[in-house]
Amino acid sequence: MESNAGRVSALRLSVLIGELLGERPSVPYTLQEFSRRIDRLVERFQSQDPLQTFYMQYSLRMTEVTYQRLHRPAAGPDERTLQDFLGRLKPHPEASQEFSQGAVDPASSLRRAESVHEYLGGQGRVLLLGDDDATGLALSLLGDYQIQALDIDERVVDWLVEMGVNAEVRDLRQLPPGYRQAFDAVITDPSRDLELASEFLKAAYGCLTPDGLLFWADHPDWNQAAQLLIERAQGQGLKLLEVRPNWHSYTPHVISDSTARHFRIPARWFYELVEVARIWSHLHVFRKDQGQQGCSQKGQLC
Ligand SMILES: C[S@@+](CC[C@H](N)C(=O)[O-])C[C@H]1O[C@@H](n2cnc3c(N)ncnc32)[C@H](O)[C@@H]1O
Repeated sequence: MESNAGRVSALRLSVLIGELLGERPSVPYTLQEFSRRIDRLVERFQSQDPLQTFYMQYSLRMTEVTYQRLHRPAAGPDERTLQDFLGRLKPHPEASQEFSQGAVDPASSLRRAESVHEYLGGQGRVLLLGDDDATGLALSLLGDYQIQALDIDERVVDWLVEMGVNAEVRDLRQLPPGYRQAFDAVITDPSRDLELASEFLKAAYGCLTPDGLLFWADHPDWNQAAQLLIERAQGQGLKLLEVRPNWHSYTPHVISDSTARHFRIPARWFYELVEVARIWSHLHVFRKDQGQQGCSQKGQLC
């Protein structure tokens, strides 16, 4: 690990994980030592309450990914473009629970845009189905793209328009005919609610040209419906080309102390954890295609 901040975070995470096992590490665990401890804790924190078990396992697995990413960061983004992007970003509207918002950090938005750019090569019509991450802005810095963003939240749209992104207030469940098969690529970070996420998928499919590309952010450790949605996408004529694992990072929040109470963990443990641990999602790349053939190896879901 190169940076001092990274070493400090690794030690803080080691101390927090060690605490649950009665250990007091004075140096960070190795990656293997850390993962072994996470496995032990996942096994230990099983209960009759499936929801609390899910929250605990999700917190532990995301902590493990954070630890891995401290040691092996994801590729990119380009540092100069990131500075340019940061310079253009206006203060983000507060996340709305009503619209299932949870934005990724700017480096992740740009990393996602760079992945799209790798596929499109600088040109194309691109639709953002919901864009509280400002991925449309990041993509506009990389090529000559015709970008259209839409979002149900007027505050997000105002924010995007203020930054120069072509955006409009729309509910993706009611798209006008002009969107049909009109885009070479669709980018989305869907809701984790299965019903609403299915609407994201349906809208994306309908808006893509016959060989268009879908960029879909999700992770099975925090969205129990993720695998089902991926299978559904493949069954509906989208071929999975690749998965870029743990590609985007989100800042977590403690929403309730109920998991701590349920497992008899001090409530402050979770508050300390969310200062360092992050939530991650994979980037799935699909191509609209009639023939269903598996996906090429690059990520773990293939
Ligand atoms: C669904 S949220 C991202 C959630 C993130 N994956 C998570 O689970 O924390 C992404 C964007 O979609 C927008 N959005 C949510 N529902 C929508 C809808 N029905 N139509 C259009 N945009 C929507 C949100 O306002 C937000 O900007």
